[in-house]
Amino acid sequence: MNSRQARLFAIGSTAAATIIFLGLTIDSHRQFPTLTNAENITPEVKHGMAVWHKYNCINCHTLFGEGAYYAPDLTKITKHRGQEYLKAYMRNPALFYDEQRHRRLMPNQNLGEEEISDLIAFLDWVSNVDNQGWPPRPILVTGGMVPGAMAALSGGDVNAAPPGLKPVDPDDDDRALGEQVFFTAVPACSACHSTAPDVNLAGPTMAGLRGRTEALLAAGDYGGQAEDVAGYIRESIVSPSAHLVPGAMYSAGGVSFMPDTYDSDLTEEQLDQLVAYLMSLN
Ligand code: HEC
Ligand code: HEC
Repeated sequence: MNSRQARLFAIGSTAAATIIFLGLTIDSHRQFPTLTNAENITPEVKHGMAVWHKYNCINCHTLFGEGAYYAPDLTKITKHRGQEYLKAYMRNPALFYDEQRHRRLMPNQNLGEEEISDLIAFLDWVSNVDNQGWPPRPILVTGGMVPGAMAALSGGDVNAAPPGLKPVDPDDDDRALGEQVFFTAVPACSACHSTAPDVNLAGPTMAGLRGRTEALLAAGDYGGQAEDVAGYIRESIVSPSAHLVPGAMYSAGGVSFMPDTYDSDLTEEQLDQLVAYLMSLN
């Protein structure tokens, strides 16, 4: 290649790259309204975004992987946590984690009730944006169990999916199917419950559930309708407030922070499978 050819080649390839870049940029912009569900941007969502900026939440948190890495990514937070939990959390974050153990703090921002509900509307809109799989792996929320976190906590391979996420044969036993439901229900049980001993996230660990329920039923300070451990577990899922696990981070005013939507969203079969799975945890 002589120097003239080299120059032409450089100009030509720069021009080609520029055209491709512009084309893709225009194409992205064309898709924005659909990907972002632009029609769902209500005044509450807009106000929620203003609140998000006003309090500089981005100084600690990320959305779509953008922001500061001090605190958990909140892109999909409303898919993992119920409204009641999020409200209570924003009213007083200090109830939800242990400063000594977590070593990082979320300041109480003294948010007003309207600011809180609009923030949730904004975060919910964010969670529904089709971000085409970005970020590729969700950034771990301290309180959340994404597949792999379970393994990490038990000292295993962080990239390994928990066994329940392997394709399960429909003829397989209820326990394996129940584990699958545990990770895939919406919102996933695993977003709030770990299965590792003493690892309490937004909800209590499922490890040892059977033993502590036996003790609870025997002690007589249980106010629900269940007569045995299986009945208690089922009741905890379909009617979370029937009996409340003590703790200010779990409920307020007699209402559990666990979503009460599973009664209608899960089938009888899925409930049986979940009970079988949870009964099997030690
Ligand atoms: C100074 C840093 C800081 C700021 C500013 C901040 N947060 Fe946080 N936030 C944190 C930390 C740290 C945690 C996680 C605590 C833990 O380890 O459990 C957290 C947790 C949360 C959670 C709970 C996540 C979960 O998984 O349960 C929500 C929701 C949240 N923040 C929302 C907000 C919103 C909304 C704002 C702005 C109004 C905000 N945060 C501002 C540091 C911050
Ligand atoms: C948004 C967080 C959240 C999600 C999601 C969630 N839970 Fe809970 N769960 C809680 C909280 C908080 C409690 C404790 C308060 C109470 O007693 O309801 C709880 C309590 C329980 C208990 C009673 C535990 C005990 O120690 O007695 C069981 C069992 C349970 N959940 C199972 C499930 C199952 C199964 C799913 C999925 C179908 C699920 N949870 C989804 C937050 C959650």
